[in-house]
Amino acid sequence: MGESPATLAEDGRSVLVLDQTLLPDQVRLHRLTTLEDAAEAIRTMRVRGAPLIGATAAYGIALAALADASDRGLEHAASTLGATRPTAVNLHWALERMLRTLHPLPPTDRVDHAWHEARAIAREDGIANARIGQFGLSLLQALEGHRPLQIMTHCNAGRLATVAHGTALAPIYAAHAAGLESHVWVSETRPRNQGLLTAWELGQAGIGHTLITDNAAGLLLMRGDVDAVIVGADRIAANGDVANKVGTYLKALAASAHGVPFYVAAPLSTVDFFCPSGSAIPVEERNAAELGAGNTPAANPAFDITPAHLVTAIITERGVVTPAELERLR
Ligand code: MRU
Repeated sequence: MGESPATLAEDGRSVLVLDQTLLPDQVRLHRLTTLEDAAEAIRTMRVRGAPLIGATAAYGIALAALADASDRGLEHAASTLGATRPTAVNLHWALERMLRTLHPLPPTDRVDHAWHEARAIAREDGIANARIGQFGLSLLQALEGHRPLQIMTHCNAGRLATVAHGTALAPIYAAHAAGLESHVWVSETRPRNQGLLTAWELGQAGIGHTLITDNAAGLLLMRGDVDAVIVGADRIAANGDVANKVGTYLKALAASAHGVPFYVAAPLSTVDFFCPSGSAIPVEERNAAELGAGNTPAANPAFDITPAHLVTAIITERGVVTPAELERLR
């Protein structure tokens, strides 16, 4: 899977996204031509993962500008896209950046600048993730442990969740390229099974991996089968608390109990310096029907918060920092 999961089409006026609701069974591109298409793709998780949601939202503003580049049109587009999913801050970061760029321009100049800025956001995500890969590689090279290294991850924080390289998987891809082999324990990530996406893309890259149920993680960590846990993030608060896919917190607790390093890999577009701590992060509550529990009362929080004290380090495009050092990158 060398292609980015979201790219500008050859016509220069539409965007092609890989429809992740069909993966891994079908690999099919889905064309976005309107603001509503972009909002629907994010809302229904055709595109998913914080950085990819941000890039798609930026393209959504460009699509909206084709139809109405007035101040009102752009504000409407930003509020439509901003209401699709609440937790991943990259969405709001990208929308604010687009509006900041376009507002000072006359409406007639906005369309070209919107495509330009959206492409810049996408390109920069790939560059940031490549850097995360290199910083993470140094951490992996320094790890004592099994060979191949045994890495655990959760959800999908790979190429599919970003414009390129992935975040949590970027160090693993970099290690593979450098000849340092790793084997990845991939938890299935109920109820939307993003772990299957991780397994699919690792398989495409020829990297050894094993799918486990979410609840098997504690046993593996207790047994000493894991050298490090690396996850992505949907929003990191200024104090280093991390919102990521539900189930992340339990892995962090078990990693801490068994002395296994717990790394969070994320670009700075995922850090919300205006959010003081994890308790201020909005956690998306998804439709309980995703649990397949029929009429049984069910709750379906899609993310959880891992407190900063359980995070060994955060791997960003500007280096590896402890949660306490995060403010330095502001
Ligand atoms: O609900 P999703 O599939 O959009 O959630 C994705 C995650 O939680 C990822 O782990 C996170 O966005 C990190 S992405 C590089």
